[in-house]
Amino acid sequence: MEKILITGGAGFIGSHVVRLFVKKYPETAIFNLDKLTYAGNLANLTDIEHHPNYHFIKGDIVDEAFVMELFEKHQFDGVIHLAAESHVDRSIANPKEFILTNIIGTVNLLNAARNFWKTDYSGKRFYHISTDEVYGSLGDEGKFLETTPYDPRSPYSASKASSDHLVRAYYHTYGLPALISNCSNNYGPNQFPEKLIPLIINNIKQRKPLPVYGKGLNIRDWLYVEDHARAIDLIFHRGGIGETYNIGGNNERQNIDIVKTLCRIMDEKLGREAGESEQLITYVTDRAGHDFRYAIDAGKLKKELLWTPEVKFDEGFELTVNWYLNNQKWLEEVTSGDYQGYYQRMYLNR
Ligand code: NAD
Ligand code: DAU
Repeated sequence: MEKILITGGAGFIGSHVVRLFVKKYPETAIFNLDKLTYAGNLANLTDIEHHPNYHFIKGDIVDEAFVMELFEKHQFDGVIHLAAESHVDRSIANPKEFILTNIIGTVNLLNAARNFWKTDYSGKRFYHISTDEVYGSLGDEGKFLETTPYDPRSPYSASKASSDHLVRAYYHTYGLPALISNCSNNYGPNQFPEKLIPLIINNIKQRKPLPVYGKGLNIRDWLYVEDHARAIDLIFHRGGIGETYNIGGNNERQNIDIVKTLCRIMDEKLGREAGESEQLITYVTDRAGHDFRYAIDAGKLKKELLWTPEVKFDEGFELTVNWYLNNQKWLEEVTSGDYQGYYQRMYLNR
């Protein structure tokens, strides 16, 4: 039986990838390795936890001996590496955790794959999931291509850029069969409410101030998380070894438009007066080194692997808001405890 290791499978994107693989490939054993940090949550996977081809392993990719032993024990045929510290604001407050997990953790996985697969790479694949933030910040024009030079500007994006370089170095130096994709901003169910969209949904619900950094004019390119998961499936199975693919939904929006759209949708759904939630918008001190604009050219993925996003932006927004309104218990659990301290540190007197 083929065995695939998915790291970070209890997180936001990882849980959607694990679900897709467990359901679509019942003859493949799917191992989800996750440390269950604040961002990892097994409640994201309750619907598939009893599937016979699904296995959960709690563990830390920074622990080298543990990672080596895991490879020895399970003899994985492929790796899809999503585990990471993923939030830019946390990386500004505490960069070191990002260096450990995103760089050292990736190297541990690369070494284990190399060591275990030796030079018999037939049928093996190491797929590293990365971000468009490695390319830096755009002005009003242009889009990121796979050939755009790296220019990371936050501790988070610098750690992801570093891990991308290491993955490519292992491909070129040792012939490790590696692939990389760089995706734009994801949104959808199960996203931890430190990120813009779920944070604003939660705050609107609770009639709390809606913190917009700077003037709200920064632009992100949004993709529904299940479209990202489908792209990952395609690239893992059909992508060229040594290749990089950009993934994006061609949905550029200013942050303030995202926030106002959420206000409008939620006022309707919650039976509030039109315009009520917009009054909660509060402009706060900008993020340090805030990248102005990201935009992805996903032409290579579309042309070579025939990928197209299936979920239109309005539809994805509706699905997302409905999910958070219908999963009150999930939201309450992740916003209790440590989240309260995080929120105070990040937003009080900002
Ligand atoms: P997330 O923060 O929601 O989840 C990360 C997961 O990794 C969690 O389950 C966490 O417990 C696990 N993890 C963290 N440190 C670990 C460690 N040391 N050992 C084992 N597991 C550990 O992140 P996400 O938004 O789902 O992002 C997943 C991946 O996709 C990341 O590599 C991120 O850089 C990349 N990415 C994210 C986006 C986005 O918009 N969210 C866009 C492009 C790329
Ligand atoms: O582009 C891909 C990246 O997208 C991923 O690699 C990261 O893991 C992911 O976190 C995301 O990074 P961003 O920094 O773009 O996402 P975030 O949701 O934190 O912020 C989106 C925009 O909204 C950004 O311009 C900052 C702004 N913002 C964010 C928060 C949390 C606010 O104005 N207010 C907020 O409270």
